[in-house]
Amino acid sequence: MALTLGLRLLLLFAVAAIHQLPRSARAGDPNILTDYVLPSDADPAQINGTFFTYTHLVSGVAGDTSKFTVSKATAAEFPALMGQSVSYASLVYGAGTVNPPHIHPRASELLLVVQGPLLVGLIDAAHNGTVYTAALETGDMFVFPKGMVHWQFNNGTDVARAFSAFGSATPGTISLPTMLFETGIDDPVLEKSFRTDEATVKELKQDLREPAPGPAPEPAPSSSAVALVGGSALLPRLAAALLCAGAAFWFGL
Ligand SMILES: *[C@@H]1O[C@H](CO)[C@@H](O)[C@H](O)[C@H]1NC(C)=O
Ligand SMILES: *[C@@H]1O[C@H](CO)[C@@H](O)[C@H](O)[C@H]1NC(C)=O
Ligand SMILES: *[C@@H]1O[C@H](CO)[C@@H](O)[C@H](O)[C@H]1NC(C)=O
Repeated sequence: MALTLGLRLLLLFAVAAIHQLPRSARAGDPNILTDYVLPSDADPAQINGTFFTYTHLVSGVAGDTSKFTVSKATAAEFPALMGQSVSYASLVYGAGTVNPPHIHPRASELLLVVQGPLLVGLIDAAHNGTVYTAALETGDMFVFPKGMVHWQFNNGTDVARAFSAFGSATPGTISLPTMLFETGIDDPVLEKSFRTDEATVKELKQDLREPAPGPAPEPAPSSSAVALVGGSALLPRLAAALLCAGAAFWFGL
């Protein structure tokens, strides 16, 4: 059956549009119609400089420097950021710890190393899963484009520190180890996806549940400091598996 030229062009356009989808992340902050957004329960007459001030970014990670910890200043912690399309994180990497492969679905991340060295990497899913890495020194910056899988690794013997700026007040974080092995995905799905056996999947789940081994007893993290996986023996194995899975996931979209 002959298709009209218009219909052909429409189909061509649709196919091209679908083809472009996995190549770019488009989610982002909404445009706001006021200069800033007050919480619904706030009295505008009571607003002063305190509303625009946040003082817990650094104190949030002042605790345990043997682990990887992150303290955030996003709209959740700092409501004045609502609608401003910016936020921050303070990151502390104990010696040998990693910020595991993850994605920020709504923001690019601009990382500034204030105490290096620090190894970083990202996966370019649109180019056959090419991995880009860099060994950063104090004062260096690295940009992780929006929606791309990335990680940081302190392979040194001293603590490393960095700050990250995000192009969203709610960048969001999708941790690949957490999403795969700490949610309710059935074991057989993971076994088949990773072409491994039940015992290995159970071991990965168990390893992620246990706190990462550290030299000293851990003080309770402060409410804004979230301890993630660090220095675990499973990470080299998991990293390799995740790189494959991440690439496969992206190409499968
Ligand atoms: C500013 O606002 C905060 C919170 O509403 C309040 O606790 C503080 O006393 C105010 N400061 C001044 C100088 O009015
Ligand atoms: C990407 O991988 C596919 C399949 O392995 C291959 O055919 C293609 O040439 C690769 N493209 C690039 C740019 O390397
Ligand atoms: C950390 O990695 C960098 C880059 O690969 C390397 O030059 C350095 O020797 C490594 N440091 C240690 C302590 O292994």
